[in-house]
Amino acid sequence: MSVSGSLTQSDSWKSLHKHYDEIKSQHMRDWFAADPNRFERFHTEAAGLSLDYSKNRINEDTMHLLLRLAQERNLPAQIDSMFTGEAINRSEQRPALHTALRNYSDRPILVDGQDIMPEIRDTVHRMEEFCWKVRRNQWRGYSNKPFTDVVSIGIGGSFLGPKLASSALKPYWDSRLNIHYLANIDGSHITEILKRLDPATTLFIIQSKSFGTQETLKNATACRQWFLDNGGTEEDLPKHFSAVSSNVEKAKAFGIDEDNIFPMWDWVGGRYSLWSAIGLPLALAIGIDNFRDLLRGAYKMDEHFRTAPLAQNMPVIMALLGVWYVNFFGVNSHAILPYDHYLRSLPAHLQQLDMESNGKSITIDGNQVDYDTGPVIWGGVGTNGQHAFHQLLHQGTHFSPCDFIMPMCSHNPIDNFHAMLVSNCLSQSQALLQGKSEDEAIAELVASGMSKAEAIVLAPQKVIPGNRPSNTIYFPKATPQTVGALIALYEHKVAAQGFLWGINSFDQWGVELGKQLGSKVLGALESDAIPEDFDGSTNGLVRAFHQMQNLL
Ligand code: F6P
Repeated sequence: MSVSGSLTQSDSWKSLHKHYDEIKSQHMRDWFAADPNRFERFHTEAAGLSLDYSKNRINEDTMHLLLRLAQERNLPAQIDSMFTGEAINRSEQRPALHTALRNYSDRPILVDGQDIMPEIRDTVHRMEEFCWKVRRNQWRGYSNKPFTDVVSIGIGGSFLGPKLASSALKPYWDSRLNIHYLANIDGSHITEILKRLDPATTLFIIQSKSFGTQETLKNATACRQWFLDNGGTEEDLPKHFSAVSSNVEKAKAFGIDEDNIFPMWDWVGGRYSLWSAIGLPLALAIGIDNFRDLLRGAYKMDEHFRTAPLAQNMPVIMALLGVWYVNFFGVNSHAILPYDHYLRSLPAHLQQLDMESNGKSITIDGNQVDYDTGPVIWGGVGTNGQHAFHQLLHQGTHFSPCDFIMPMCSHNPIDNFHAMLVSNCLSQSQALLQGKSEDEAIAELVASGMSKAEAIVLAPQKVIPGNRPSNTIYFPKATPQTVGALIALYEHKVAAQGFLWGINSFDQWGVELGKQLGSKVLGALESDAIPEDFDGSTNGLVRAFHQMQNLL
């Protein structure tokens, strides 16, 4: 299901342009002053999360028009087509059914006429057994010692999602197991991980949907060799190596015992795979009950996204606000600012989720878009960013809408740390909204003892325009359920934007060219011949690589 008709020629699009001209110079400060109920008016809740979106450059008319756009783009039907398994990933001719992985209803989900739910449930059951055996020391290493370390080898979606959820849920970890994530094809990364480990007590999980990703296979081969060089034997390999992949044959050819291969399906995109057996290292860390709670939290968000009216639908509202800024204000970035140490990996995960999904210039029907699509996603943990990049957020020439993400209670309630953290979060969004006028700056400087003449000279440096939008997503605590709901919230925001923009959010052809060129460049780096085949810059850099090998 997609929509026909030009987005930019639609009635609501044209009305939004007109509306933008009317409100673009209005200040949110004045709107708040005029409306004591703005917080309640632009506020919604779902799956244990609350969204305050009152600090946005919107009024009732804006929301009305954005919601009309959503209706004109047939958003409810498009959302439905994702949940029911229509082949919405058209360029790869398959559905996008990550929601099936957390389907706690008794609704069957059909792919090619077959209900996929029994296989999904069976896989979770296998994960449960695996976790139980490892965590209860029933499954041990070759010297009969219990495992102390798990190395998850994977990249992209086979890395970022599990890594995010693992660090987000650190308070739930079993202290007897350490989980390490190895992704980068960099000798330093693997060296730093392996040098602390004992092969006799280390379990490896090779995570690759395709089982064809160069970085993952190289790291996996090197880990296997390290294992064999440091006490393990070929016969011991099945005890120490398992895999998650949709390519069982390739995993077997690598030497993984079939019993230790967990399935993946082609209808799960890499960046949506945390909910599948790719979540195995996470499940080992936090236990299968907590992993199930994570799925439950995501399921609650799924149900909300699927059934809530658009005007209260949290992912839809966030998607529409994004469209408002990208397409009408001409904004091309969006900052993710978690005020929670454990959620520090969220920006990295959302970069893949959003930019790999919506970094597209061609519509699902194969036409060039005549409007902007996905913004650059960036960010970092609060409050550290306040002492670094927030300067640009407050006074830069670019404006970047921000999502402040904030648990109201800490897992580690020591002293008044958490109140201080929350106060930083609230004061940042407040400062972005309010800003500081020239008169206020002058008055402040004079009050600090400066002469009026000096204050007038300095004041322009201190002016902060304000009127910079932000969302605040808050919840009681970062539990498995709220973290599940939070990740699903962003998945659905991204999907809804893709539906609105008429692009395919579920393929990623853009990453292929680099992979193709990579093998040719590797050939040149490993050969003695003077490179001539590439552009001048690449030839020069290959020559520099050769020259510098002999310098140290
Ligand atoms: O290079 C991009 C990508 O294809 C991602 O979409 C994916 O998550 C990642 O590589 C890893 O792929 P795989 O799980 O097949 O190794």
